[in-house]
Amino acid sequence: MSARVCALILTLSALCGSTAASGVLSSPTNVRLTSYNMNLVLRWDPPEGAAGGLVYTTEYKTPVTSYRVGCVNTSHLECDFTRLNISIIEYGIYTGRVQAQVGAKRSGWVESRHITLDKDTIIGSPNVSLFSNGATIDVSIKDPVFVVSELRNVYIFATYNITYWKDGQVEKAKSISNKQQSRVVLSELELWTKYCVQVQINTERNSKPSEPSKIVCESTTSREEAPWVAAIVTFVIMAVAVALVVLAVVYRESISHFLCPKDALPQHFKEYLQAPPTSSTYLAMQYSRPPKEIYHQISIVAEEGRPLEAGGMSCSKQPDVRAGGELQEKRERLKSTEAVKKS
Ligand SMILES: *[C@@H]1O[C@H](CO)[C@@H](O)[C@H](O)[C@H]1NC(C)=O
Ligand SMILES: *[C@@H]1O[C@H](CO)[C@@H](O)[C@H](O)[C@H]1NC(C)=O
Ligand SMILES: *[C@@H]1O[C@H](CO)[C@@H](O)[C@H](O)[C@H]1NC(C)=O
Ligand SMILES: *[C@@H]1O[C@H](CO)[C@@H](O)[C@H](O)[C@H]1NC(C)=O
Repeated sequence: MSARVCALILTLSALCGSTAASGVLSSPTNVRLTSYNMNLVLRWDPPEGAAGGLVYTTEYKTPVTSYRVGCVNTSHLECDFTRLNISIIEYGIYTGRVQAQVGAKRSGWVESRHITLDKDTIIGSPNVSLFSNGATIDVSIKDPVFVVSELRNVYIFATYNITYWKDGQVEKAKSISNKQQSRVVLSELELWTKYCVQVQINTERNSKPSEPSKIVCESTTSREEAPWVAAIVTFVIMAVAVALVVLAVVYRESISHFLCPKDALPQHFKEYLQAPPTSSTYLAMQYSRPPKEIYHQISIVAEEGRPLEAGGMSCSKQPDVRAGGELQEKRERLKSTEAVKKS
């Protein structure tokens, strides 16, 4: 048994040795041209039974150009053409090929199948964020970043397929498709409920939808209150609080006087003030018409060429000087009445 295996290994190594010795290197295998988010990468497996120290050279072409050089003498098993300083066109049709080399020995070229970049690229997953606002959830979608161009340039009519479900009830998922806007509001949701969302991108030119986004979940809350209402209420409360504090600081002396007066009112004064009025003058005044007062009307006439300046600032602003005079008189009268009352 073990002798047979040994014999097989010996035969194989002898074969390899003979191919190497004859200067023919077997070719790389499984050569494929791939694209993810619009990059262009050639991948391959090493030749069967290959020894170490192999390097590879790759080339690419379009239907209208001959082969151009890509990666040279790379020891990796892939070559990202979009990393090289060559122009890759988003609608281009590309074919790649690879050759193995060790020392002076080269293998034959192995060609990949062609791919059309925008039709065949694998579109990566979009990035989804959720913001709950009362009974609605805002879904905000960010497109995957393309290596060549941008998603909206390559696929002008790309749409989002938004699938959402109540947490734990994925079998009852609902979908909103054909949305072009990157912000979508999920409405008519239940309050205080956790919803999960997953988004895929559909395009008109690429038959496959994008990779699905990561599932994200968010809870609805109570009835919505616009955030600006809360902001205004907070602002008003803050403003009032600040005003109160300022007033308290400015009038702290008066307030402390008012709250704890230094001199208490004597007891008999309090009794007197609380007792019903007994003064005959007061009673007479209360039940009789106020005495008729005699007064003269006065007018103030401004001197020519001189602006009128009567009394203080407040009087000078009065549009009607006569009315101001009357007001003054009334005040005088009031004072005298008070004086009478006090006596
Ligand atoms: C690639 O390797 C071959 C053989 O070792 C060498 O002749 C050639 O100059 C190398 N090319 C580059 C670009 O390094
Ligand atoms: C890339 O290619 C352009 C023109 O094809 C050239 O001007 C530029 O110097 C190159 N840059 C690098 C880093 O090789
Ligand atoms: C998705 O978006 C979030 C927030 O903008 C960011 O932190 C995160 O890195 C993004 N993820 C991907 C995969 O782009
Ligand atoms: C949207 O996604 C859901 C879930 O993946 C799928 O069942 C549905 O067919 C998709 N709709 C469209 C129009 O792609």
